[in-house]
Amino acid sequence: MKFFVDSADIDEIRDLADTGLVDGVTTNPSLIAKSGRDFTEVVKEIVEIVDGPVSAEVTATDVDGMVEEGRKLAKIADNIAVKVPLTWDGLKACRALTQGGTMVNVTLCFSANQALLAAKAGATFISPFIGRLDDICLDGMQLIHEIRAIYDNYDALETEILAASIRSANHVKESALAGADVSTVPPQVLRDLAKHPLTDKGLDAFLADWKKTGQSIL
Ligand code: E4P
Repeated sequence: MKFFVDSADIDEIRDLADTGLVDGVTTNPSLIAKSGRDFTEVVKEIVEIVDGPVSAEVTATDVDGMVEEGRKLAKIADNIAVKVPLTWDGLKACRALTQGGTMVNVTLCFSANQALLAAKAGATFISPFIGRLDDICLDGMQLIHEIRAIYDNYDALETEILAASIRSANHVKESALAGADVSTVPPQVLRDLAKHPLTDKGLDAFLADWKKTGQSIL
């Protein structure tokens, strides 16, 4: 499974990328607003840090506007994935942009039928939002299972499933079990994946016993 970082915080992205565990980055207008910074500047900095796909979202809602914005964003770097919403116009923009050789991440996906349409429109990534479905008492993870099953039924559908709106380490594990190709995770959730209380307890015990030996490796 590939890990993308779901953030527009340059310091966080740089710190996590240093681990070699980061395969890409996703941003959205809310994350840009949270950063308090200029959108284009932030995206330009991210593509310098991460070699893999960096999602930058259009804000136009009509097809011509989305395509125009998408083409402008795609010029920033070869690893830009233009993010378009899963609307009728978004699907048309997806088709136009992918036919022009641009990676497209179709976002705000909440149903398997939407994911099927995005794949047929040539999306590079489909972003089903797990957490936001859970928020309204629906089963976000079931959606990942459904999309995986549908895409696996048809060799022609090559869209990668990018599990989004991930809120916990458990969401990451369940997405991997469901066969998502990518999880885009908030920085803290990526760090949480490494944590286990028995790891901490075991390390404390090993270090205490080592101290008793009075030895040193160096
Ligand atoms: C990623 O591409 C999405 O924008 C993001 O995962 C949304 O997460 P949220 O539902 O926690 O805002």
